[in-house]
Amino acid sequence: MSKPSLILIGAGGHAHACIDVIEQQDQFEIAGLVGTSEELDARHFSYSVIATDSDLHALSKTYRYAFISVGQIQSPDLRTRLYQGAVNAGFQLPIILAPTAYVSRHASIGAGSIVMHGAVVNAGAAIGVNCIVNTRAIIEHDTTVGDHCHISTGAILNGNVTVGAGSFIGSGSIVKEGVSIGAGCMVGMGLSVRHNQNDHTRFVGANKT
Ligand SMILES: CC(C)(COP(=O)(O)OP(=O)(O)OC[C@H]1O[C@@H](n2cnc3c(N)ncnc32)[C@H](O)[C@@H]1OP(=O)(O)O)[C@@H](O)C(=O)NCCC(=O)NCCS
Repeated sequence: MSKPSLILIGAGGHAHACIDVIEQQDQFEIAGLVGTSEELDARHFSYSVIATDSDLHALSKTYRYAFISVGQIQSPDLRTRLYQGAVNAGFQLPIILAPTAYVSRHASIGAGSIVMHGAVVNAGAAIGVNCIVNTRAIIEHDTTVGDHCHISTGAILNGNVTVGAGSFIGSGSIVKEGVSIGAGCMVGMGLSVRHNQNDHTRFVGANKT
């Protein structure tokens, strides 16, 4: 039986990582990417940029599924806007799980989120919509991650951590069990977070700003 077609919204480096996971998951056929007007017709592996964001309504008449494939470091705004645009255009946003990831049957994952190669989402964890759980990240038991978050490569959220919507946890950073990180926070790479963080905190270690 043929696989349903999927449009990727975003044509940068993170799209390449998403393509690999989607191909390995083997549940969707990638029909093409959506990018900027400058990116139109560019090739990404065997796929082309076939449209721009302003074409989402038209594309949704042909394609049922879309997935947000832009990255997120300094701000969640672009991914959030694209996600809302895709939902408003009528697309369904699937959950993408790498076959090399472990997602507990007692965990929940929201629409449009991706769990990438080698990541672990353990029992009782809840991940919101439009999140990236990047390569080899660990989301331990009973941890909650709000909508539109990016938990980067190799980051570890220990048990009973809470991360508010639109936050970014940098590569290799570790959050102590039970710690609460507010909404719209930015935690740099390679850091230990041992105390609760208010909304919109920019945490870059000893010199947090
Ligand atoms: C936090 C971050 C975004 C700051 O980037 P920036 O605004 O360009 O700031 P700079 O890199 O100029 O850093 C300014 C200062 O902040 C401090 N700082 C920034 N990030 C830091 C970090 N992760 N750990 C410790 N100190 C850090 C340093 O004192 C640095 O001064 P230095 O350049 O003299 O060492 C960036 O360092 C970072 O951690 N990015 C995330 C990378 C990542 O996880 N990517 C994931 C891809 S999946």
